[in-house]
Amino acid sequence: MSPSTAPTLSYDYKVVRQFSIMAVVWAVVGMLVGVLLATQLIWPDLTYGIPWLSYARLRPLHTNAVIFAFGGSALFGTSYYVVQRTCATSLFLPRLASFTFWGWQFVIVSAVATLPLGITSGKEYAELEWPIDLLIAVVWISYAVVFFGTIARRRVQHIYVANWFYGAFILTIALLHVVNSLEIPVSLTKSYSIYPGAIDAMVQWWYGHNAVGFFLTAGFLGMMYYFVPKQAERPVYSYRLSVVHFWALIGIYMWAGPHHLHYTAVPDWAQTLGMVFSIMLWAPSWGGMINGIMTLSGAWEKLRTDPIIRFMIVAMSFYGMSTFEGPMMAIKAVNALSHDTDWTIGHVHSGALGWVAMITFGSLYHLIPRLYGKKRMHSVAAINVHFWLATIGVVFYISSMWIAGVMQGLMWRAVNNDGTLTYTFIEALKATYPYYFGRLIGGVIYFAGAVLMAWNVWKTVAGAQPVSDAVLEPVSAHAAHSARTA
Ligand code: HEM
Ligand code: HEM
Repeated sequence: MSPSTAPTLSYDYKVVRQFSIMAVVWAVVGMLVGVLLATQLIWPDLTYGIPWLSYARLRPLHTNAVIFAFGGSALFGTSYYVVQRTCATSLFLPRLASFTFWGWQFVIVSAVATLPLGITSGKEYAELEWPIDLLIAVVWISYAVVFFGTIARRRVQHIYVANWFYGAFILTIALLHVVNSLEIPVSLTKSYSIYPGAIDAMVQWWYGHNAVGFFLTAGFLGMMYYFVPKQAERPVYSYRLSVVHFWALIGIYMWAGPHHLHYTAVPDWAQTLGMVFSIMLWAPSWGGMINGIMTLSGAWEKLRTDPIIRFMIVAMSFYGMSTFEGPMMAIKAVNALSHDTDWTIGHVHSGALGWVAMITFGSLYHLIPRLYGKKRMHSVAAINVHFWLATIGVVFYISSMWIAGVMQGLMWRAVNNDGTLTYTFIEALKATYPYYFGRLIGGVIYFAGAVLMAWNVWKTVAGAQPVSDAVLEPVSAHAAHSARTA
């Protein structure tokens, strides 16, 4: 078939652009709230007397803004891009895709409006009240229809591995959200969980842990499996390993939730089950990390010249680090020391800042210029500066929290010969202050990097002509290209 007569493709990029830009906006907002929280932990009276700026209300705002607004927008945007490119087809029901954009942004704005007012269901990472829960369910099901509908009308036979990860993330989050949010409304702004006591805790941490496993991990692995080979211009190191990685990861994650409930009223066998499955999780996690990093083999010199590749390599290293640390913390004896200390906060942010945010930054730096018909971002030097700010910031943040956490755990458990506690709680708190400063410095540096990114994105897209939705590309050429990527 000659190129002039070949059928053409038309991608829907508008919704990808919308989500990508909002991911950057929500990164800045969510991290700003994080910096405010870190400041409040040093000066608790900072916003004294203003209830909606109190720590307790801003904390869930931070977690919702960074996970669901920033992370969520990045996942929606990149998955819509990846599924089209690798299936060589446009989105199924583009209007429904547009609805998911506006619906998701409405969910976020509702969170911003209700959480500071103290309207909350009280379940961590599922704080939003029942009317918003219903909207989330509708948006999410629409997302699944668009994503899987696009896969169903693909023009290449193979379903590229990134889509498997995105697909598992979409299906699992639907299941988790619906089961964990079953609640009885007593007014428009208040509901109670249908589950009693220890069962509620079990369901909540089945949800909570798999939100980490599927929202903060599987979805971003989808990103990794598409954008790392693209940016490195190399095929995935081992496609076979990526498939083993997928099945092993999704098979094991589901059972690890009870490690959040060690030494509680949850049955002992369930705690041990959670611990054992967490330790098993180490293997697929590292298989995936090695697969991602080794994709660069034969192209290591790019690390010297390409700051986007640097973001990706550091992200995958942090993925490896936090998935080594997690299984270790799941061992009951270790958890007896780490639980409720700042070590957990260090672990969270090595995963969140090191893995989730960095793989997103790298992917967006690859993606955004392509959506606006540009070869590269406005300033490559600024990407480089952002990389160093992010790397230095995360190291400051997590090393402060590690030292503080282990110190707190040891001080809380120290006993005198007569069995009384060696330290009062307030002594442990006072000893933590220097590390809270360390965290604040790291947080401010990391946040400055995000602001720089926002500026760079602004300069790249302002005045640029968005790539027309009708990107014409011969199918045959595209199919060959996506097969190479795979
Ligand atoms: C400038 C960047 C950030 C700063 C300064 C920051 C700061 C904070 C602070 C001070 C807390 C409360 C800790 C506590 O209660 O002791 C927190 C909690 C949390 N943050 Fe961040 N954060 C940042 C970015 C992020 C990002 C990008 C994510 C996710 C993608 C994230 C996810 C979380 C989560 C899940 C928690 C709750 C942890 C738990 O309950 O164990 N943060 N953050
Ligand atoms: C093999 C993988 C992992 C395992 C086995 C694991 C295990 C754990 C354990 C044992 C805790 C402490 C529970 C407690 O004492 O309360 C924890 C907390 C947490 N982890 Fe991980 N982790 C893993 C990977 C990750 C990654 C990659 C991220 C983020 C991207 C992450 C995010 C979190 C969060 C947000 C919490 C705090 C939950 C809360 O109490 O609010 N984890 N994890």
